[in-house]
Amino acid sequence: MKYSKTFVELNKAIHDRATFDCGSVELNTFLQKHAFRHMKVGVSKTMVLPALEILSNQKYPICSFYTVAPSSIQREILPQNLSKSLPHYPVPVFLIAQLAVNTKVQRQQLGKATLIKALEFLWQVNQQMCAYAVVVDCINGPVEKFYQKYGFLYLYKNQGKTRMFLPMKTLGQLFGDRKTFIRTQIITAPP
Ligand SMILES: CC(C)(COP(=O)(O)OP(=O)(O)OC[C@H]1O[C@@H](n2cnc3c(N)ncnc32)[C@H](O)[C@@H]1OP(=O)(O)O)[C@@H](O)C(=O)NCCC(=O)NCCS
Repeated sequence: MKYSKTFVELNKAIHDRATFDCGSVELNTFLQKHAFRHMKVGVSKTMVLPALEILSNQKYPICSFYTVAPSSIQREILPQNLSKSLPHYPVPVFLIAQLAVNTKVQRQQLGKATLIKALEFLWQVNQQMCAYAVVVDCINGPVEKFYQKYGFLYLYKNQGKTRMFLPMKTLGQLFGDRKTFIRTQIITAPP
């Protein structure tokens, strides 16, 4: 399964949601039934990486996707060294609500590339409207390890999921001064 080089906004007339399988029913169902509708009503944005081949229904399979949305957290849940300088009202954050890779192309560094693209997207949004951090809710231990690998820190467990966060300052270090490094060293995914 060869994929295009660019993430684009999910378009149900162009992208084949039905054939997407990442191994998680929850995430498959989200992409197939909710992602487009949520974008239409303006609560989140879903970006997909289409495959290069076209199906008989004239749509492109989806190799990976991410969904982001604005959110907020209570300052008290942050480590004290971080929370002490924050205001006493909900702290704005960006949520990576969903992120998944098609099983056909898992373990080929596409999850990493998709995460970097999601973070880069949020970093760009942050230039216009600030958030304190990026948060994600991990559905299981291995996924937690995946995010940990890229600097996400533990916040708390809730209803079987682990909430993790990455301060926006860290993204600044990645995409601010060292943008060229990130582009060439990390985002490049195998064809
Ligand atoms: C989690 C997921 C996004 C990873 O995507 P992937 O393309 O398989 O991962 P990559 O090939 O980019 O792996 C990047 C690194 O993470 C590690 N990693 C990937 N999946 C892992 C797992 N399940 N457990 C532990 N480590 C994992 C890899 O070993 C790799 O490390 P390396 O660079 O040292 O070799 C993908 O498995 C997936 O979509 N899973 C189902 C949906 C899901 O759980 N999404 C997360 C929602 S919170």
